[in-house]
Amino acid sequence: MIRVCVCVSGGGTNLEAIFKAIEEKKITDAQIVRVISNNPGAFALERAKKRNVEAICVSPKDYAERADFNKALLDALKECKPDLIVLAGFLVNVPVEIIREFKNRIINIHPSLIPSFCGKGFYGIKVHEEALKKGVKVSGATVHFVDEGIDTGRIIDQKAVYVKEGDDAKSLQERIMEEAEWVILPKTIQRIAQGEVKIGEN
Ligand code: GAR
Repeated sequence: MIRVCVCVSGGGTNLEAIFKAIEEKKITDAQIVRVISNNPGAFALERAKKRNVEAICVSPKDYAERADFNKALLDALKECKPDLIVLAGFLVNVPVEIIREFKNRIINIHPSLIPSFCGKGFYGIKVHEEALKKGVKVSGATVHFVDEGIDTGRIIDQKAVYVKEGDDAKSLQERIMEEAEWVILPKTIQRIAQGEVKIGEN
């Protein structure tokens, strides 16, 4: 059973999908040991508390220096001894010391087909606004390892979703969450827990 720490910033629907997958025994070899939010108002924290999973907030607003926040976040992660850290809508640039400490043990869900609509400034609803502006006919979601760049780590899984006539950013976001994110993120956690994902050339 691997120990998973999930980092969140907002609504936590991806966190909910992981909890559901555990309850439905689609994830059998991983347990969530702690949920960390950078935002005290994140509804994701309530979702964790409802399941009696430890939910804590480490907010940059509580620290005068960014370096102190980075250290507090690193300590909060180390403390729960995770085998895997899942960024599930965690809208913080993960500091390099955390990436080095947990090399190849951090994964992220991104709401587009990387390498499209990713990198600096592409997060949440903005990703879908840009995809619609560009007129793409297919978008989707990607699960990838986190390295020192923004959305540049090795891709683990992707799922495509068609853009429909009349879609706005919100409707596209919702469909991508439901059809892609909530499917590939739990599936990847189970694959990692079962030792099926190896870092290599591809
Ligand atoms: C999700 O769509 C996730 O892919 C995105 O934020 C949303 C969080 O929703 N993440 C990023 O944009 C990261 N670059 P949730 O809190 O309901 O899971």
